[in-house]
Amino acid sequence: AAAAAAAVFDKAARPADACVLAPAKVNLFLRILRRREDGYHELASLFQALELGDTLRVWRLDERATSTMELVWDDGADAAAERPEVPTDGSNLVLRAFELFARQVGMPLRVHVELTKRIPVQAGMGGGSADAAAALFAANRLCGYPASMADLRAWGAELGSDISFFFSTGTAYCTGRGEQIESLPPLEPRREIYVLKPAEGLSTALVYRTLDLGALSRLDPDALLAGMRRAGGLLEPANFVNDLEPPALAAVPRLADIQRTLRARGWRVVMMSGSGTSIFCIGSPAGEPPLAGWSDELRAACFPTRFASRAEDDETVWYGE
Ligand code: C5P
Repeated sequence: AAAAAAAVFDKAARPADACVLAPAKVNLFLRILRRREDGYHELASLFQALELGDTLRVWRLDERATSTMELVWDDGADAAAERPEVPTDGSNLVLRAFELFARQVGMPLRVHVELTKRIPVQAGMGGGSADAAAALFAANRLCGYPASMADLRAWGAELGSDISFFFSTGTAYCTGRGEQIESLPPLEPRREIYVLKPAEGLSTALVYRTLDLGALSRLDPDALLAGMRRAGGLLEPANFVNDLEPPALAAVPRLADIQRTLRARGWRVVMMSGSGTSIFCIGSPAGEPPLAGWSDELRAACFPTRFASRAEDDETVWYGE
């Protein structure tokens, strides 16, 4: 058995070859337009990257080695807290991204990845997708940038609908199944946003499965986008809609209670992100420190953060660098 066990990589032996920040996202609005023949849904959504993010540290290994990864939780919960299931075998999107990259560029690439998780899991904040995008970016850096951002974006789309977004400037209008992206100028650089993650999580596939196509909002995405880009648009509740909210609230009724509580305290915008269960708040009640009056339970799951962006014209610089 000893001979069969994979050698454990010794991180202390040398510094990491690449270190990349993988930002979370929220959907400022998310309109579902229709169900497609292939089972996916056609959407129109305004994605925004956040400073809150995971960190990937990557060591390049001998090309005969097997790629491995490990998780470090830095999510504010105490060490004994139960963590959601995140696989660390070859099924993890991070290792699949490294493998896909190596195949596409035809270069051997074996790595050990230390993934520090801060983005809440099953939150609708794109954590797994951000990690996969960061893995593609790190792979490109390790190999001397053989691929363009457009290549990485296309390969990312093969792994998941939300991954392309992370090759944008951080604010992007996304269509198709989410993989068609149009980068936009920052709405408000470093705008404060509070994200709240209740203990309950939701799987994206489940939320889409229970979506009632007859009950979609019908709001015009172009009008929402125009509203959002006007001065003060981020404080206008009418610009925010998420068609995945009704099925998510039906699955976890407590989400509606939390939203009511936050609105009653005077937060201007209170909205679920993606397929949930995270709720983000913009525009703190006047004269109140942002977390005043929150219960201990809400405080424990709250992430104060800001909008993040990256410069599109430098393909060697990732978020947070
Ligand atoms: O693309 P990804 O694997 O991240 O999507 C997860 C699940 O979410 C899909 O299997 C699908 O059920 C659903 N989905 C969808 N329409 C989209 C994106 C995702 O129905 N535009």
